[in-house]
Amino acid sequence: MKISQKEEFNERLLFWYHQEKRDLPWRRTSNPYYIWVSEVMLQQTRVDTVIPYYERFIASFPTMESLAQAEEERVLKHWEGLGYYSRVRNLQAGVKEVVENYDSKIPQTRAEILNLRGIGPYTAGAVLSIAYGVPEHAVDGNVMRVFSRLFLIEEDIAIPKTKKVFEQRVMEVIDETDPSSFNQAIMELGATICTPKPRCLLCPVRDFCKAFEEGKQEQLPIKTKKVKKKVLTIHSYAISEPGGKWLLRKRPTDGLLGDFWEFPQIELTQEMDSKDALKIDTGLLIEQGEPYAQFNHIFSHVTWNVEGFHAVLQHESPIPEGYRFFSDEELELIPQSKPMSKLLEQLKK
Ligand code: ADE
Repeated sequence: MKISQKEEFNERLLFWYHQEKRDLPWRRTSNPYYIWVSEVMLQQTRVDTVIPYYERFIASFPTMESLAQAEEERVLKHWEGLGYYSRVRNLQAGVKEVVENYDSKIPQTRAEILNLRGIGPYTAGAVLSIAYGVPEHAVDGNVMRVFSRLFLIEEDIAIPKTKKVFEQRVMEVIDETDPSSFNQAIMELGATICTPKPRCLLCPVRDFCKAFEEGKQEQLPIKTKKVKKKVLTIHSYAISEPGGKWLLRKRPTDGLLGDFWEFPQIELTQEMDSKDALKIDTGLLIEQGEPYAQFNHIFSHVTWNVEGFHAVLQHESPIPEGYRFFSDEELELIPQSKPMSKLLEQLKK
């Protein structure tokens, strides 16, 4: 893009953004920590979903010190239902680093901010540009869609190294006087107009769009298909003791839903009856009861087909280490994964 064209492009883009932008809570603050929180929540989660979570999180952890000192379980409780829980663990770890090593001030250069836990190239650019006005790229999938069309970039966005191409292009076009509005305007365009099915007639920068000129906007971006996700059948056992408490165990720290409590469950295989598998996996001896729930839960890399069964412990069954009985009230207080909250909801019926 030539200089004169770049100026006109930015003038139109930013004029449109200031007229049309949605009133979002993180757009009313310049607190870098709040912007960091919002950007972490907005990765993988839609704006409408994020708003109440953001408000609650900021109300409970209004400063970096308060988040740094908070119990992890309490922090997770504020994330309950948002998924991708490693995001919030990393956020808390990164915030602790800022409090301890940077006198509670988030660094203002890409090199330094990238050293923090949980901050990758996108979050780095978003925080630097939005909170500090530094002209830095913040490229995610939506930005790649917008730029692939504007500049007719026909590289496969499923390949990680393609992102560099987009980051460079953003650096060529970014408005140096207002990088915050520029990056947010591109995000806004991607969210409201340059959507997967684009609404070009409403686009403020249609005259600059190479894909529109060639009628290729619907074919872009180019993204090769991913391999099909694994589907696992999970048998989950709601085991209650006479006092009405439920037997739960903590998941391993590393991996999917790390450290969340759940009903004992096993992954069904062709070879083995699920009750036997449970015994081998956990040592628990049960009588399997009626099914009470069946649903799918989609994670990023795997889908669980969950079947929930009532069950009772056999008299001679040991209670393995890492297992604990919880009352209904106690269950309310600990963070619940989506599959667990669905199971508990079905159990109450
Ligand atoms: N998606 C990612 N970051 C965003 C932001 N700051 N505002 C709106 N949508 C976003």
